[in-house]
Amino acid sequence: MNRARKFSVLVYITLFCLCWRRVSAQSSPVFACDVASNPSLGSLGFCNSSLGLDLRVADLVKRLTLQEKIGFLVNSAGSVSRIGIPKYEWWSEALHGVSYVGPGTHFSSLIPGATSFPQVILTAASFNTSLFEAIGRVVSTEARAMYNVGLAGLTFWSPNINIFRDPRWGRGQETPGEDPLLASKYATGYVKGLQKSDDSDPNRLKVAACCKHYTAYDLDNWKGIDRYHFNAVVTKQDMDDTFQPPFKSCVIDGNVASVMCSYNQVNGKPTCADPDLLAGVIRGQWNLNGYIVSDCDSVDVFYNSQHYTKTPEEAAAKAILAGLDLNCGSFLGQHTEAAVRAGLVNESAIDKALYNNFATLMRLGFFDGDPRKQLYGKLGPKDVCTPENQELAREAARQGIVLLKNTAESLPLSATAIKNLAVIGPNANVTKTMIGNYEGTPCKYTTPLQGLAALVSTTYQPGCSNVQCSTAQVDEATKIAASADATVLVMGADQSIEAESRDRTDLLLPGQQQLLITQVAKAAKGAVILIIMSGGGFDISFAKNDDKITSILWVGYPGEAGGAAIADVCFGLYNPSGRLPMTWYPQSYVEKVPMSNMNMRADASNGYPGRTYRFYTGEKVYSFGDGLSYSNFNHQLVKAPKQLYVALEESHICYSSKCKSVDAVEQSCQNLNIKIHLRIKNNASISGSHTVFVFSTSPNVHNSAQKHLLAFEKVVLKGQEEAVVKFKIDGCKDLSVVDENGNRKIALGDHVLHVGSLKHLLNVRI
Ligand SMILES: *[C@@H]1O[C@H](CO)[C@@H](O)[C@H](O)[C@H]1NC(C)=O
Ligand SMILES: *[C@@H]1O[C@H](CO)[C@@H](O)[C@H](O)[C@H]1NC(C)=O
Ligand SMILES: *[C@@H]1O[C@H](CO)[C@@H](O)[C@H](O)[C@H]1NC(C)=O
Ligand SMILES: *[C@@H]1O[C@H](CO)[C@@H](O)[C@H](O)[C@H]1NC(C)=O
Ligand SMILES: *[C@@H]1O[C@H](CO)[C@@H](O)[C@H](O)[C@H]1NC(C)=O
Repeated sequence: MNRARKFSVLVYITLFCLCWRRVSAQSSPVFACDVASNPSLGSLGFCNSSLGLDLRVADLVKRLTLQEKIGFLVNSAGSVSRIGIPKYEWWSEALHGVSYVGPGTHFSSLIPGATSFPQVILTAASFNTSLFEAIGRVVSTEARAMYNVGLAGLTFWSPNINIFRDPRWGRGQETPGEDPLLASKYATGYVKGLQKSDDSDPNRLKVAACCKHYTAYDLDNWKGIDRYHFNAVVTKQDMDDTFQPPFKSCVIDGNVASVMCSYNQVNGKPTCADPDLLAGVIRGQWNLNGYIVSDCDSVDVFYNSQHYTKTPEEAAAKAILAGLDLNCGSFLGQHTEAAVRAGLVNESAIDKALYNNFATLMRLGFFDGDPRKQLYGKLGPKDVCTPENQELAREAARQGIVLLKNTAESLPLSATAIKNLAVIGPNANVTKTMIGNYEGTPCKYTTPLQGLAALVSTTYQPGCSNVQCSTAQVDEATKIAASADATVLVMGADQSIEAESRDRTDLLLPGQQQLLITQVAKAAKGAVILIIMSGGGFDISFAKNDDKITSILWVGYPGEAGGAAIADVCFGLYNPSGRLPMTWYPQSYVEKVPMSNMNMRADASNGYPGRTYRFYTGEKVYSFGDGLSYSNFNHQLVKAPKQLYVALEESHICYSSKCKSVDAVEQSCQNLNIKIHLRIKNNASISGSHTVFVFSTSPNVHNSAQKHLLAFEKVVLKGQEEAVVKFKIDGCKDLSVVDENGNRKIALGDHVLHVGSLKHLLNVRI
């Protein structure tokens, strides 16, 4: 969604409400099935909670006229007062805290703010799956509390789980990074945290999450190419081993209640009009238990901007027939009736869509009467921004922050030794920058300067008036660095550099930031700590190679408590454990790689270097998974098989002729589970967390990845403590590769497993 569109939707809603009020007088019910104030509703089947969900939904659908039905196909759903149904706004957002983006949610004096967690890219860097879920639980509790006082909806269009394919993408900050496994785990964890009902009834939802934007969407506005017109040309292979896996996990493992289709086309078809992608894959193969919603306003976009159909009625019919259930926007509200009259779509198809929408609301308790008498009825303002929730926001930032360089152990700083700390940079005392986009009003802010100043005495110079840094105030900054015991520079980006509808065209720090950093480092007396606050990576090779810059930290957009977390890490109150969830490329990358080229794989014939750690063959500034600690951790392999046998029928062709791979289908997948046990030791005196990554390099068949992540696990270890980390790997699911036709294959031959610097050969044979 973007703001221009949001604005037009808001205007529409406002006009709609004004007209509606005039026509239908006073009596819109406050909540559905309010039997206490209207006993006649008690006899309606859909209000009867002792009936099964199917019966209730069927009862509701059959009571509605065609016009009423169409009112439930759009985000600002109309009310039907004669059967006690109030209007409902489907569009709320909760990407990293309850957000005010989307008309369904507002802050007021009753609840002026909500806990604002780090932007997702930093949370992903924690590689801590229980943290993903813990954040989701807090967000859904605050969301329910806001719903109870009329400030929020129950359907949240979060998370964004698109693969961060290109560092220039302005929305990369919203995502869990470039790796399909991490994105899948993030999606599953966050969605469970949002949705899981306190009564453990799998059919009940605490709030409904939505995985978006389906699919192959990761270009907003780059050199004149925008998402409303872009046709993503994607190979079958890239589709199935890069773009689809997070969505598949979100639906199958996370049991998400909704998927949102995107603006762009994939291979010539708008995703929201593609029956294979929607009805075929999401509902058919993955068995979505929920509704499919369009981005705002994708249907309008494929008609008016892409001219995909000749008439608006055809566009409406195509979307519904493809499997779209709900339209963010007003297009289906305007054109569906005419589409039905023209015979382009039958009312039965509309009933199917309504079924999915109503079933979701039913699972949320929307038709169970007074919300204050239900499971979450006691939640209210006191449950929002609690000290525990705010502490989790700080903890999430601490866990995500990545230490990229630390020469001469310049970090952690000692709060007793540092008498005066110079704090410099356009992001050194920022508030809103820290919470990124799809934000809400936070409970409060702790800026980096405030966080650091709470521990030591500081002097501060912004160095540039904003991150654009068109002219750096070098003299003022070098002056304070020259006399301070240590210097912290907080640089990087904000939404004016990378945002929705704003992709970057280069990877260099904006304006004169590099000049400021280099001059300050040259003049500084003590350690120089460079902090990059950003969503995407930057080419900071100059700083990596500058001996005067002793430490580098990447802090994402660290949320409301970001400054406190930065101080915790800088002064050793927390031992850093974050790892980069995306590759940092040099500037030369943008010259070789058009953002619009979707191919993941390198192409030697034209010098295309490929994308992400799995395929990119060029030089990197920092790699996926990079991140240092104040401890050092040793790995030792305790258990891992050397051989794995794939079971095939005796008549299988691979017995008579040499095969490079076999299909990863049911039979060959039997008994392919392997166990890998590793002993990890924290060889330092302080405690710390450590992420163990298991990567694999497959035999070189099907143009497979250079390596891919099979599994990861984060452990906390006290100083000198050791633990055995046990991985169960499903050979078929995790070890397999996708071939050129999009089919999963098990490569035969030697697979190399990598853990830290350890390498282990696993021979797979028939
Ligand atoms: C609700 O449904 C149950 C089960 O069919 C039925 O016994 C009961 O009478 C219904 N309640 C009302 C108020 O109609
Ligand atoms: C509508 O239903 C009729 C009768 O079942 C069927 O023949 C026709 O193909 C349907 N039209 C569409 C557009 O699905
Ligand atoms: C830092 O930012 C805070 C919050 O906006 C503000 O109150 C404070 O005055 C700023 N400090 C300096 C030294 O500019
Ligand atoms: C563990 O730390 C000690 C002391 O710093 C060092 O001598 C030793 O080499 C380390 N062991 C390993 C395996 O890294
Ligand atoms: C993961 O996050 C949870 C919640 O903050 C925390 O309790 C746990 O210690 C973290 N795990 C690791 C290994 O750091």
